[in-house]
Amino acid sequence: MINIPRGTQDILPKETKRWRFIEARLDALMELYNYQEIRTPIFESTELFARGVGDSTDVVQKEMYTFKDKGDRSITLRPEGTAAVVRSYIENKMQGLPNQPIKLYYNGPMFRYERKQKGRYRQFTQFGVEAIGAENPGIDAEVLAMAMHIYQSFGLKHLKLVINSIGDIDTRQEYNDALVKHFEPVIDDFCSDCQARLHTNPMRILDCKIDKDKEAVKTAPRITEFLNESSKQYYAEVKQHLDDLEVPYVEDPNLVRGLDYYTHTAFELMIDNPNYDGAITTLCGGGRYNGLLELLDGPSQTGIGFALSIERLLLALDEENIALDVDYDFDLFIATMGDEADRFAVKILNDLRKNGVKADKDYLQRKVKGQMKQADRLNANYTIVIGEQELQENKINIKNMQSGDSETIVLDKLVDYFTK
Ligand code: HAM
Repeated sequence: MINIPRGTQDILPKETKRWRFIEARLDALMELYNYQEIRTPIFESTELFARGVGDSTDVVQKEMYTFKDKGDRSITLRPEGTAAVVRSYIENKMQGLPNQPIKLYYNGPMFRYERKQKGRYRQFTQFGVEAIGAENPGIDAEVLAMAMHIYQSFGLKHLKLVINSIGDIDTRQEYNDALVKHFEPVIDDFCSDCQARLHTNPMRILDCKIDKDKEAVKTAPRITEFLNESSKQYYAEVKQHLDDLEVPYVEDPNLVRGLDYYTHTAFELMIDNPNYDGAITTLCGGGRYNGLLELLDGPSQTGIGFALSIERLLLALDEENIALDVDYDFDLFIATMGDEADRFAVKILNDLRKNGVKADKDYLQRKVKGQMKQADRLNANYTIVIGEQELQENKINIKNMQSGDSETIVLDKLVDYFTK
């Protein structure tokens, strides 16, 4: 037997209904906020992520599915959506479009070779948004509030929005230098990942899961001490907007995010339930990326966005025992007795479906009792039993499965019964 690859999952019919419910809700929310859907390829040039996400990040160093295609090009299955959306923005010269800023959203599979864990997969489905072309604290606040709105719209309550500012590109550089100086004398006590990160990506030492309780992490310089006046001002305005919107948040100066392109606003939305027993609590993450477009040879526009995985959204829903209002309803199940009735049912089903009625019959020659069980399993709202007599009289008893009531109607008019 060949098994499913590690870290992936089959989403079976009962579950796909929940997925579609969630995705329809997300589409509807995006209309409210005036974000439009973009679909980019599942694979891109490796260089896009190496440059965009950053050579020193875990994603690029360890987690990408990269291969050579038959034309000897290095190709990578996308590990995230932002770099691809920005590539598309640049390639399609979206800065020249009339409606600015450009607000886009996407939803699709992403691939990271990570250790499998509850809430962590090697193929996962990311829904994300990117607003490109406005550097304005108002849009930062809108994006953060929207992330919160998405989760709340499903009835989730145990949520925590954690925010930070990582300043502009100069601030980051100064801060990184200070961190190198701070950690260098003690780095031998740190894990091998942190040792490797010291000179490539020292900010990541701050959110290392292994070394998080080390004294040097606790006493490390804080990014907030390095923010220049304009960064401080920008951050203060984002927070002011969040206060105006009554979106609660907590600040965490150690929130640095795992991808290199962030500047200024960075945030994560987490599960905040004391009874939650999973290791993974981050539901969604994002932030502002002011240098990314230029880094990818684009115009000097800036952007902000976030992404969440549907897998983790479902995990949060299960955690809070929230059932989605998924429509499992079915209109009609036709039970038959005898060959003639069976043939007639095939024909009438065709008419029913063409008129938008969800209908089905038995194909396994079950007894009527077995056919009724099938109707139950399908959650059919109505059933009929067609036999010789019904065909002769052109009359049928239609039973409402919820109320138990039945009425007699003309068999020829079955379609009308549902459509009128
Ligand atoms: P990220 O923090 O790497 O950011 O991922 C965002 C979200 O994707 C996570 O919070 C989580 O919900 C989900 N996710 C990531 N990896 C996995 C996994 N292995 N299994 C399940 N879910 C996962 C980004 O990807 C940025 N592109 C977000 C962004 C958009 N920033 C600005 N715009």
